[in-house]
Amino acid sequence: MEEFHKVRRLPPYVFEQVNRLKASARAAGADIIDLGMGNPDLPTPQSIVDKLCEVVQDPRTHRYSTSRGIPGLRKAQARYYERRFGVKLDPDTQVVATLGSKEGFANMAQAITAPGDVVLCPNPTYPIHAFGFIMSGGVIRSMTVKPDDSFFYSLERAVRHSIPKPLALILNYPSNPTAHVADLDFYKDVVAFARKHDIIILSDLAYAEVYYDDAPPASVLEVPGAVDVAVEFTSMSKTFSMPGWRMGFAVGNERLIAALSRVKSYLDYGAFTPIQVAATTALNGDGSEIEMVRETYKRRRDVMVESFANAGWEVPAPQATMFAWAPLPERFREIGSLEFSKLLIEKAEVAVAPGVGFGEYGDDYVRIALVENEHRIRQAARNIKRFLASADESMQNVVQLNTRR
Ligand SMILES: Cc1ncc(COP(=O)(O)O)c(C=O)c1O
Repeated sequence: MEEFHKVRRLPPYVFEQVNRLKASARAAGADIIDLGMGNPDLPTPQSIVDKLCEVVQDPRTHRYSTSRGIPGLRKAQARYYERRFGVKLDPDTQVVATLGSKEGFANMAQAITAPGDVVLCPNPTYPIHAFGFIMSGGVIRSMTVKPDDSFFYSLERAVRHSIPKPLALILNYPSNPTAHVADLDFYKDVVAFARKHDIIILSDLAYAEVYYDDAPPASVLEVPGAVDVAVEFTSMSKTFSMPGWRMGFAVGNERLIAALSRVKSYLDYGAFTPIQVAATTALNGDGSEIEMVRETYKRRRDVMVESFANAGWEVPAPQATMFAWAPLPERFREIGSLEFSKLLIEKAEVAVAPGVGFGEYGDDYVRIALVENEHRIRQAARNIKRFLASADESMQNVVQLNTRR
């Protein structure tokens, strides 16, 4: 029987192959150090958990909640934007709470896309950026990720050569997986371009608070007039280490927010009220929890960069995100990121995410997630050192001929 139309457009998850290998290695007794999935390992701060426990005792909170988010939560998000970015938002018309930013993004795609609409999407990128639109009947045109002149060159070409003209442009800075960061000047130019060509901007700012130098990432909405064309998605998952809680936001352009709210009103009743109240408490907090999460990732990043370099693998230090985007060591380039990731599991007991899982232009890299503690990261580096040394001795045994590209 032929596969369903939509399902046929969703290739098997590349990461699934690595996950399967990881599971069977573990079943055979291996202690796999898992730097693969971007699944934060830090516990949610206790004050947020306590608030949830307190509120859940009230039976009135057990009823259906509101799809757009309770008013206090939307107000807290608006206050966060004002505090952090100096951006004023109307919590009634420009803010909607989502079941994690992934759900918000996918349903925004569903709300705005007509079959065949062209969407400009970074490659490599977090998979929902492309597949949210593919599932909605859209067509993806890949864009370079680096926020420099090459980006504007490909933007110009995309507009000149796409028929119909692109509906939307997806931005994701700080980027998952590449960790590229964009500054306000970049956003100014993109907004000017989008306004001129009447293109919607969807900005994924999931890593707004995971940064390591003195320059906190900007919001596209800081650009005057951006709200005419842009919506931005943020997430509690990384900022407050709340990935399982499923809480995020879309904010910005009223027409787009209204479209997303309309679609969501048909699909869901919002997050469980105690989760929304606890999220409100988190957003209204003094920021100390955010600081703690950031400091932990920073220490891990420094340990990773230093210990991997000692192991013979130079990995550029990310300025933001909880990921390093690591070029395959020279002698493994020819086998590609998936085979290299499999080798790392088999020979070094370390799991990473193959770059090709984020798009074809990611295949010379793997993504290393900082989701194990410093001790385990050092252990991963020691394992990798041993693996690289043995690979140098006998490449033939390590890289099977049939896996070469
Ligand atoms: C760039 C990016 N956007 C969105 C998400 C999804 O976050 P959420 O848990 O809010 O759905 C992730 C999660 O890894 C991400 O890396």
